[in-house]
Parts: sequence; structure tokens; C-alpha cells
Amino acid sequence: MDDRRRYDHATAELEPPFAILDLAAMRANAADLVRRAAGKPIRVASKSIRSRTVLERVLAMDGFRGVMAFTLPEALWLAGHGFTDILVAYPTADRHALAALAADAEAARRITVTVDSVAHLDFIEHAVQGPKAELRLCLDVDAGYVALGGRFRAGALRSPIRQPEDAADLAAEIAKRPGLRLVGLLAYEAQIAGVGDAPRGQAAYARAIRLMQARSARELIVRRGRVVNAVRQFAELEFVNGGGTGSVELTVREKAITEVGAGSGLFHPRLFDFYRRFTGRPAALFALPVVRRPRPDVVTVLGGGYPASGSAGPSRLPQPYLPAGLRYAPDEGAGEVQTPLLGQAAQDLRTGDRVWFRHAKAGELCERFDALHLVEGDKVVETVPTYRGEGRTFL
Ligand SMILES: Cc1ncc(COP(=O)(O)O)c(C=O)c1O
Repeated sequence: MDDRRRYDHATAELEPPFAILDLAAMRANAADLVRRAAGKPIRVASKSIRSRTVLERVLAMDGFRGVMAFTLPEALWLAGHGFTDILVAYPTADRHALAALAADAEAARRITVTVDSVAHLDFIEHAVQGPKAELRLCLDVDAGYVALGGRFRAGALRSPIRQPEDAADLAAEIAKRPGLRLVGLLAYEAQIAGVGDAPRGQAAYARAIRLMQARSARELIVRRGRVVNAVRQFAELEFVNGGGTGSVELTVREKAITEVGAGSGLFHPRLFDFYRRFTGRPAALFALPVVRRPRPDVVTVLGGGYPASGSAGPSRLPQPYLPAGLRYAPDEGAGEVQTPLLGQAAQDLRTGDRVWFRHAKAGELCERFDALHLVEGDKVVETVPTYRGEGRTFL
């Protein structure tokens, strides 16, 4: 049975819009991530999953260890539900959550928060106010690529800490402060992990990306190692995290790296189709119902306007996936309440038929749906809540 018939069959009793997760596809994607990680553990990026039950399933698989959370309230909530090793990989300025963390010895053992400046250390100490549970800290280091004397930069604008000396200074500052303990280091190379090196139909751009990524990887292997050595003079690091879905096999080559962070590869959303190093199986999909036919060659589905975050453009729109051969009307795109779809395949669709879409990114899909229907073969075997389905909208 082809995937479209299988998904239609499995969900015949459901009324779209709804979202599914194909468990066999996710397992295959997980196995490939683990193979690429070559023995180093993968810390699962919760932003790319956004379902507690699915996170538990991922952590039950060999090769995955720990959660990379995106907010401290999320981490506290996960810790309260039994998750143990949680790194909040983005700085928090949530005073209430910091105070709650320091007031809860068990949560403080399970959660590590990320810092990148003395001002942030001051902020944390002020929020915590007085001696409480010791807080575990992770130092975030800029892993971006800089060339031409600083005139060219690729990678996410994250930490101001870039050189070994800067990292050592901040580590020394943390060591002086009772109540704070540096336990980890994080350096995420977004320009490799999150940028496909095989963009379709753009040969010159692809060559430029590959050159930049090769140079960046060479630069990182040296600098990340030096940063780690410098920081180790002031702290016993339990982990050094780097990478993401797009870079796993490159990141783990570095001796200094003890683990990789990755999540998107499990769902394999549209933006991850454009890499030479790996392929994946689309695992998370959503179905929208055909509700009308404005013209013989056009059908309209309900909803669909779920663009992904990032620099806006067509690549951030969901991909009409099954049946193959549907495309957006150029002047409408994916609509707020309805989305016209053009193409040969539209002619065979009837009112009530489903069109299956992939999101451009992974976890953001779960902000649109209460639940994920877990598909095994041609059956829904379980329906589990997303974060949103549990009333949790952390971002
Ligand atoms: C710190 C960090 N590590 C890793 C990742 C990779 O996550 P994913 O594999 O879902 O792309 C990200 C994504 O933005 C990130 O911010």
C-alpha cells in the first residue's frame, strides 16, 4: 500500500485537520541519526518534538540521552514529569522560573541553564536571591564562521563568547560565585547543522555553501578544542555539546565533543531535504480536508497557513506532500483559513478528501495541533498530546 493510501486508511475515522506521526519512519530516522553519531549520545532537542510522550519514546531508544529544552518553564515542567538530564540551551530571563529552580533541589539537580555573560550571571543571582540549591550552568560559545576580517559571517547570532580567553574568563568568574557551578559547554554551528548543502537548482549557491561549511568545520575543530581546554582549567565539564541534525557526523569527529544535540531529523521536515550527507523519511504530517473547487484544476483545503519561523520566504511554507504534484497559488500561498492548491493532482480530489502536508520545520507543527496520532503500518495505535494539547505553550 502506498503511503497516501496507508495514511488515509489509518485515519479514516478522524476528521481533518489533524496531525500524525509515522512511527516506523521516525524509528528509521532515529536509527540513522544514531549511526551518524558514531557512538556519541544524542541530546534530543525538545523544540523539534514538542510532545512529552514522543520525547519519552525517543529517550527510550538506544543512542539518545538527555533533553535539550528551549525554555526554563518547559524544563521545570519536564523535570516534574520525571525527565532527569535537561539542558536549557538558550538563556533565560525568567526570574520566577529561576527562583523556582533554585528553590527546588531536585529540579536543580536535573536542569542546567545556559549563560554567556557576566551580566547574565548577575541577573541569575539577583533572581535567585540568597543561598539556595546550587545551579548548574552551561557556557554557550559562538560557533559561527567569520572570514574576511569579520566582514563575512555565517551562523546564528548567539553568544558573544568566541575565543578561548573569553570562555576562560567567564568560567573563572563562575568559579568565584558560590551557588553557581559550570558543568557544560555548548557551541552550536547553525551554519552547518541548519543549512542544507544541496539546495535544488542553485548550483553556484550550493558550491558557496559547501566551501563555507568545509572551512567552518576546519576552523571549529581547532577553536572548539581550545575553548574546551581553556574552560577545563576552571571547571569539570560533564558535557560538551555541539551540532544538530544537519551536522551530526561532522560534529562527532571532534575529540572535544562529548554529545550532539539533534531533534529535527526525527520528524524529517521539509527544510531537511536539502543535504547531501543524509536522507530521512517524512514522519510528521498533517492532513487538511478538501472543502471546495474554485476551478476544475484547483481544490481548496481548510487551513494550512502554518509558516515556520526564520527568515520569511516560500521555503518556510508547509509542503503539499500527498498526493504529489500540488502547488500553491502564487498570490495566496498557504492561507489563514483556506488554501487553494493547483496542479494535475487537484483534478482527482473530491470534497472531504485529505491532502497531506509536511511542515517546513519539525516541532512547530505541534503548536497547531492538540495531538499526534501515532501510525504503525496502516493503523493509528495511540493518540498522544502535543505540548499545546497539554495546555503548554512555552513559546
Ligand atoms: C543549541 C542547538 N543545538 C542543536 C540544534 C539542532 O536541532 P535540530 O536537530 O532540531 O535542528 C539547535 C537548533 O536550532 C540548537 O539551537
